[in-house]
Amino acid sequence: MTRHFLSLLDFTPKELRALIERAMTLKAILRRREPHEYLRGRSLALIFEKSSTRTRVSFEAGITQLGGNSMFLAPAELQLGRGEPLEDTARVISRMVDAIVIRTHEHAKITAFAAHSQVPVINALTDRYHPCQLLADIQTYFELKGDIAGRRAAWVGDGNNVCHSWINAARQFGFTLRVATPPGYEPSADVVADAGDHVHLTHSPQDAVAEADVVITDTWASMGQESEKDVRAQAFRGFCVDDALMERARNDAIFMHCLPAYRGLEVSAGVIDGQRSAVWDEAENRLHAQKALLEFLLN
Ligand code: CP
Ligand code: NVA
Repeated sequence: MTRHFLSLLDFTPKELRALIERAMTLKAILRRREPHEYLRGRSLALIFEKSSTRTRVSFEAGITQLGGNSMFLAPAELQLGRGEPLEDTARVISRMVDAIVIRTHEHAKITAFAAHSQVPVINALTDRYHPCQLLADIQTYFELKGDIAGRRAAWVGDGNNVCHSWINAARQFGFTLRVATPPGYEPSADVVADAGDHVHLTHSPQDAVAEADVVITDTWASMGQESEKDVRAQAFRGFCVDDALMERARNDAIFMHCLPAYRGLEVSAGVIDGQRSAVWDEAENRLHAQKALLEFLLN
């Protein structure tokens, strides 16, 4: 059976932990400049319906370092953009390449694509989840602070795709996540319900971050929500992660953000550019974690 990576729930906790270990090993191998062309001659197709800096560059650089190649396919240039059914596109492309990375809006689109693909499909972000981001984020936590099991994480901001993947991570890696959102911006009830005791919702950023080991936020207006930007900026007043809020977390707490970030809105410049910020490690680890993912799915 073809394995896909559409959410963190597609892998077992044991598989996810092995991936994180492997990502750290691949990072060390790259640092030593040792050849590691474990996917020589393999091809990766990337279909992105939304903008991307980190995800695209990390997948393209990653497969190249592993000895394979990538092709970036803008939907407007594919027959998909002219109305060829998604299912037909999946059948055709998956007969030619070894894995397909997709960034799109509706999560149902990627599940439909995967159902008709002969090769692994990787979720590079949908409106519902961003699982690749979480591989890098958990790797970063392990590197900076050790095992995240039993620890306390705090999400401050929008209950969005990245938040949903943090909720899944809390289940899969065994930690607690407190999520603070304004009323009306909570994560989806089904994602929360499935996580049981691992997740707690509040409308108070101060309560969420109390004694947290890691504080996380993301943009208040995700891709596709550009027209809601001003309304959201109003609704999220008081949710900026600044020094005063970080003071309530543990002394050694770190700050995470998937990027791109908007200084002065969801995070202050002092926090994202300060001592506790792990954002550049997170961004770099996209490369290492996704190389481990490709190796796992393709070998
Ligand atoms: N964090 C993230 O996925 O960034 P990009 O949108 O630049 O890929
Ligand atoms: N929540 C953001 C994440 C970007 C990487 C978005 O979906 O736009």
